[in-house]
Amino acid sequence: GIGRLWRSPVCAKPHIPCIVPRATRRQTMSTSPASSAIESVLVENRVFNPPAAAVQGARIAGMAAYQALCDEAERDPQAFWARLARENLAWTRPFTRVLDESNAPFYRWFDDGQLNVSANCLDRHMGTPVEGKTAIVFEADDGTVTRVSYRELLARVAQFANALKAQGIAKGDRVVVYMPMGVEGIVAMQACARIGATHSVVFGGFSAKALQERIIDAGAVAVVTANYQLRGGKELPLKAIVDDALALGGCDTLKTVLVYERTPTAWNKVAGRDKTFAEALAGQSTDCAPVPVDAEHPLFILYTSGSTGKPKGVQHASGGYLLWAKLTMDWTFDLRPDDVFWCTADIGWITGHSYVAYGPLAAGATQLVFEGVPTFPHAGRFWQMIEKHQVSIFYTAPTAIRSLIKAADTDEKVHPKNWNLQSLRILGSVGEPINPEAWMWYHRNVGGERCPIVDTFWQTETGGHVITPLPGATPLVPGSCTLPLPGIVAAIVDETGKDIPNGAGGMLVIKRPWPSMIRTIWNDPERFKKAYFPEEMGGTIYLAGDGAVRSVDRGYFRITGRIDDVLNVSGHRLGTMEIESALVSKTDLVAEAAVVGRPDDVTGEAVCAFVVLKRSRPTGEEAKAIAAELRAWVAKEIGPIAKPKDIRFGDNLPKTRSGKIMRRLLRSIAKGEAITQDTSTLENPAILDQLAQAN
Ligand code: WTA
Repeated sequence: GIGRLWRSPVCAKPHIPCIVPRATRRQTMSTSPASSAIESVLVENRVFNPPAAAVQGARIAGMAAYQALCDEAERDPQAFWARLARENLAWTRPFTRVLDESNAPFYRWFDDGQLNVSANCLDRHMGTPVEGKTAIVFEADDGTVTRVSYRELLARVAQFANALKAQGIAKGDRVVVYMPMGVEGIVAMQACARIGATHSVVFGGFSAKALQERIIDAGAVAVVTANYQLRGGKELPLKAIVDDALALGGCDTLKTVLVYERTPTAWNKVAGRDKTFAEALAGQSTDCAPVPVDAEHPLFILYTSGSTGKPKGVQHASGGYLLWAKLTMDWTFDLRPDDVFWCTADIGWITGHSYVAYGPLAAGATQLVFEGVPTFPHAGRFWQMIEKHQVSIFYTAPTAIRSLIKAADTDEKVHPKNWNLQSLRILGSVGEPINPEAWMWYHRNVGGERCPIVDTFWQTETGGHVITPLPGATPLVPGSCTLPLPGIVAAIVDETGKDIPNGAGGMLVIKRPWPSMIRTIWNDPERFKKAYFPEEMGGTIYLAGDGAVRSVDRGYFRITGRIDDVLNVSGHRLGTMEIESALVSKTDLVAEAAVVGRPDDVTGEAVCAFVVLKRSRPTGEEAKAIAAELRAWVAKEIGPIAKPKDIRFGDNLPKTRSGKIMRRLLRSIAKGEAITQDTSTLENPAILDQLAQAN
């Protein structure tokens, strides 16, 4: 049952205090809020109304305009979505049906319509002023800048699509993209969309094992990769990891590996299987007719962590997904023709899908794409790039902001005040709750107190933003993602699906389907139903997996963190079960492992592992050495992002008499809290002291 999903109170995350707003003090963005040492306590009292400059000319200008859209959606949801789908997308065959609910929760949108996603992102702009406009400004790790116009991007995508076809890849085939950040990765994704192949992008930080599992689950026929990737001045292998993944075996469907030679460094080429980009593209035409697909055709599968050891292949459709990516560029970012948009996310995550590879192109935006890391060659790199490229919309993750705050605190030279950030007009945040202190710093030091911050709540499964402020309308409250987008029926409910009043915490749900929602879990429709549409709630309400609370006065949403066994480390989703499986798969050493999260100032949450070895409990230097070995093992099994920050060794783990590990106690120990919970049902209470001391 889903009662099990409840772990601790929804206020478990200390960096988002559950303070219900009392009397709110109005404030405009142009006046500086009274500085206070205890901002986190006062912050719920602060409201930042959109400045006149943000309201003027905005697509959704003022709350009345927002309300009018909400009302339109409420009156006749299908007519609302149909209007937007007709206005925002080019259909090769117009749809006549909007929503098919006959097999709920397997909802189908615009399902008798046909379109091509790549044509909507590229061909559609030909013959318009966007044709010659810069689509992508690419800044490499070493600072080299290249520009690609929409016309050039179309030619490159078409040529790559022809190269894929020449390899025998066709509509419906799956292609894994394991690429660094750059134009080529976006071209590969768009080229798949052009021929109707379904891509599955795997983040370049995932291990050979993780890559192999995804290739097998997706049944991929090809992998598109690069010989190396450049990050922070270092050249890191990518193709070698593909070789390792394939050497693990089981990738029987895979025939081709296409290799972009990012650097001149030599790499191992397997005859008959591997081709360089240059070889694959040679002689291919730069014209390629886009293949029309049904609106429900799977555009991509993106693997994400859930509450079991196996990642979920989140499957998105073509029409509804693209509609949302385009619409939210207009609604959430209020995109204007001369904007320079910069989303710092990697294409390996959903944010890089919706707000790098698809949304900005569908909207005809100029976007900055960055290969490197925010701290190289110095932690002022982001601010320097905003000035250099005159970025007007900047979208990043709280974890990046927090780490750059730390860097600026220790080194004045990398503080944003050293750069001219006047080009900025809108700031965005995504991936995890933004703590009010970080919000205020971002607002003052990056946004110059004039840029609205859109704190966008969404998930891999939602396809795009679902709860977010609108820059020309919504009064902002630091740390709150405010209100749902028009047509999104978000609510907070208890385990039975019953509404919970404002001011009290509960589970976040979306009560009605929306066009960009997850369609199924690849190869696992049963898991899709169980994970997202629990029977206890009637089987048709989408359960987000997050806890949330709405403010009493405004009904604003505040996300309080996951209610399942998923951690959010630096904005990356990690399943505790996945990490546990990785640890216990080191069978020569590990007998048992339990993984929990604990709060971390910079990364939001940190991974904390409690481990019982097959030999006696190590201490001192031996414990350090084994912990290092286990960290390296997890990096090899999943990827460096999953490495536990803390590893504690015990003679055993705290268990109930029926043998269940008591994770809530482990969470308290990981935090360094005194145990206040009832421990009377514990089989072995003495273990708590041992684990609390061990480190
Ligand atoms: C969290 C990333 C608070 C949340 C787009 C969600 C957030 C998970 C926010 C999805 C936000 C994302 N405020 N929490 N603005 N945005 N989250 O699938 O826990 O990588 O369930 O998608 O990130 O992570 P995912």
